[in-house]
Amino acid sequence: LKTKVLVFGADGQVGTSFKRIEAKVCSLLNAEVFYSTHLGTSSGEIACDATDLKAVTSLVRSINPQIIINCAAYTAVDKSETDQEVCLKLNRDFPGHLAYLCKSTDAFLVHYSTDYVFDGSGSTPWREGDAPQPVNFYGLTKLEGEKAVQQNTPRHLIIRTQWVYSDHGHNFVKTMLRLAKERSELKVVGDQIGAPTSSDLIANLTTELLVPILRDQNLAGIYNLSASGEVSWHGFAEAIFKGWRKLGGTLAVNTVQSITTDQLPTPAKRPFNSRLNLSKLESVLQKKNPSWQQVLEPVLKKLFDQGF
Ligand SMILES: NC(=O)c1ccc[n+]([C@@H]2O[C@H](COP(=O)([O-])OP(=O)(O)OC[C@H]3O[C@@H](n4cnc5c(N)ncnc54)[C@H](OP(=O)(O)O)[C@@H]3O)[C@@H](O)[C@H]2O)c1
Repeated sequence: LKTKVLVFGADGQVGTSFKRIEAKVCSLLNAEVFYSTHLGTSSGEIACDATDLKAVTSLVRSINPQIIINCAAYTAVDKSETDQEVCLKLNRDFPGHLAYLCKSTDAFLVHYSTDYVFDGSGSTPWREGDAPQPVNFYGLTKLEGEKAVQQNTPRHLIIRTQWVYSDHGHNFVKTMLRLAKERSELKVVGDQIGAPTSSDLIANLTTELLVPILRDQNLAGIYNLSASGEVSWHGFAEAIFKGWRKLGGTLAVNTVQSITTDQLPTPAKRPFNSRLNLSKLESVLQKKNPSWQQVLEPVLKKLFDQGF
């Protein structure tokens, strides 16, 4: 009998990557996969508004999955400061409800969280057990979501990731390339440090991690997951432009100035130190995570081949 996997948020960055690696999910987990998006699609993705918990219950009951992967979230960090009610529904109530539904059928829940649960102080990479202290409303709701999952079922995997990009959806890489084609000068923040992580890497490593975790409940819990290494947004922008030119792409930009966070006021505060310690993940997977530079290369190539 095949394991039924239900993916929520299937048209987001991470959700789309799960669709791309469906063959790997099916073979590693002996699974068949069902996808849900907010509005549904003609290609078979099931419509479900994640803020409508009754609709969520009936979808989950109708499929009766053994694994739920929640890639849906409220991810507009600045907008969340003023759109608090919807943000809480998506980032706290929805995962909490999924965990409650999973508990009642003994299903396993995969949920995504963020380094924004930390305050970004110091320069040491954050470990899973460090004390969270979010500096913005989005981070607070993601922390509340983690707690809601933990309270409702022990059979969970909470993956804290960061700086997510892909060749699809809205993200820093695509924004930078768009701007660099139009402008000769750009200013990019140089004092926030993290590891840019592709959604393809997240979907792949999540799937690999599920194999040992489903075998051994003691391995369940919170995991950091990002590419390895570290860079500022400014350094990342420079690497994007260098990689694009190496592929033969043309850009108008010739000066990329590094600015401080204070010079770019945003509605939501951002943490300075987004470094995540990867040793827990790497020890369970028994391999080192690829560097952010290695992860960037194929995404740029895909964008270039798509004629971005
Ligand atoms: N992006 C990052 O840099 C980052 C960093 C750290 C952690 N994370 C976490 O990683 C996870 C995946 O992030 P991502 O970048 O893949 O996010 P994303 O691309 O913004 O995707 C989120 C998805 O949630 C869906 N969604 C929003 N409201 C919904 C609703 N009411 N009903 C059903 N679906 C709804 C969106 O669909 P519609 O647009 O159609 O509503 C979208 O497809 C999230 O948990 C996020 O918090 C992301």
